[in-house]
Amino acid sequence: MTYLQSGVPTTSKLVAEGLDFDIVHDRSQFGSAKWANQWDEFSPRVEGEGLMSLWTADMDFRSPAPVIARLREAVDHGIYGYTMRDPHHYQIVKSWFERRHSWAVDAETLLPAPAIMPSVAAILRTFTQPGDGVIVQAPVYSPYFQVISDNHRTVLINSLKLVDGRYELDLDDFERQAANGARAFLLCNPHNPVGKAWTREELEGLDAICERHGILVISDDIHCDIRLNERRHIVFSSISEAAAAKSFICTAPTKTFNLAGVPAATLSVADPKRREKLFNVMQASFMLNANFFGRLALEVAYTSGDDWLDMLTLYVRDNIDFVLNTAATALPGINPMRPDASFLVWLDARELDARVGGIHRFFVERGGVNLYDGRVYGPGGEGFIRLNVGCPRSVLREALGRMASALASL
Ligand SMILES: Cc1ncc(COP(=O)(O)O)c(C=O)c1O
Repeated sequence: MTYLQSGVPTTSKLVAEGLDFDIVHDRSQFGSAKWANQWDEFSPRVEGEGLMSLWTADMDFRSPAPVIARLREAVDHGIYGYTMRDPHHYQIVKSWFERRHSWAVDAETLLPAPAIMPSVAAILRTFTQPGDGVIVQAPVYSPYFQVISDNHRTVLINSLKLVDGRYELDLDDFERQAANGARAFLLCNPHNPVGKAWTREELEGLDAICERHGILVISDDIHCDIRLNERRHIVFSSISEAAAAKSFICTAPTKTFNLAGVPAATLSVADPKRREKLFNVMQASFMLNANFFGRLALEVAYTSGDDWLDMLTLYVRDNIDFVLNTAATALPGINPMRPDASFLVWLDARELDARVGGIHRFFVERGGVNLYDGRVYGPGGEGFIRLNVGCPRSVLREALGRMASALASL
């Protein structure tokens, strides 16, 4: 348990506050996209009777009690006007990253942001030109492809290598992509969907190539907080001054504390000139004014959420063990990869996928379970599926049971 930040948490206090990850909540009344099986009103719905939703990356758990209490106070106050962040806000962010990740970020480098993806778009538009190449490491979080293409930049794919069931970097190929018109690199650290927490050596390898080719690094650290083993989160900009100078670190409490619907994010831009330029662009896009609830939730979560996060980590880790054990005994052809961080498990089902003509559809139609189809993550995702274990164990048990029955009927 040594990887837990605050030691073994005070379970009794949290239970007294109502913490119980086993409770199943009906989320449909508040328009949950996950449980509607539809990302938004512009995308196709995954249809199915009584479908279980273990796909998109939010959790079915209530946020920490202090966050709920403070938001409730704010709701009861009844006035939801414009809100602002004061210097204390940035100290809270700084203190969180120092405490949880030993990252001594300078508060001066911090910029407020509405969420991660709008920030990535703003950074790309500010520091790259139409047509410039942007490297991503596929299979990877699918909006990365969209944010690059929709902003008229060129996606350059540096495929991850699968070696003995674990993903590794392909630095030779990365160097080739770097020399192929790349101006920026969109790093996913830790990586969604493959669950890898990149080591210092790996980040140094990437940095050396970016340095040689004058490539900027946009690091998306949204999944950094839930640490499932001894592997620490290494923030790209912390590895050297040169790395800091070329990087934009994008952080948010939204995955960690299940706050995706009340978003708030923070960027760290060490280079003062680039920081000022980005600030001006974000201001010109009216991106700086804080969301009333998002600002508040971030501050309370980063101040009072440590014990809750440690408990969540234990629960998620047990869910992952449950997936691995169940797969070994009851899910032939499904090979889950143990992630280093976060609540998403990447399942290798390539042989089954070929046999059943698409494993995602098979589980939707024959099992009533909606997972994320690996194909959305780009090249290398074919035949894989992503399972979100941020749910009560009973939900996970039922979903895996349905999957096992579907496979047994083959
Ligand atoms: C890697 C990654 N980045 C960004 C996001 C979305 O961040 P935001 O909602 O802050 O734009 C997600 C959500 O699943 C994600 O997995």
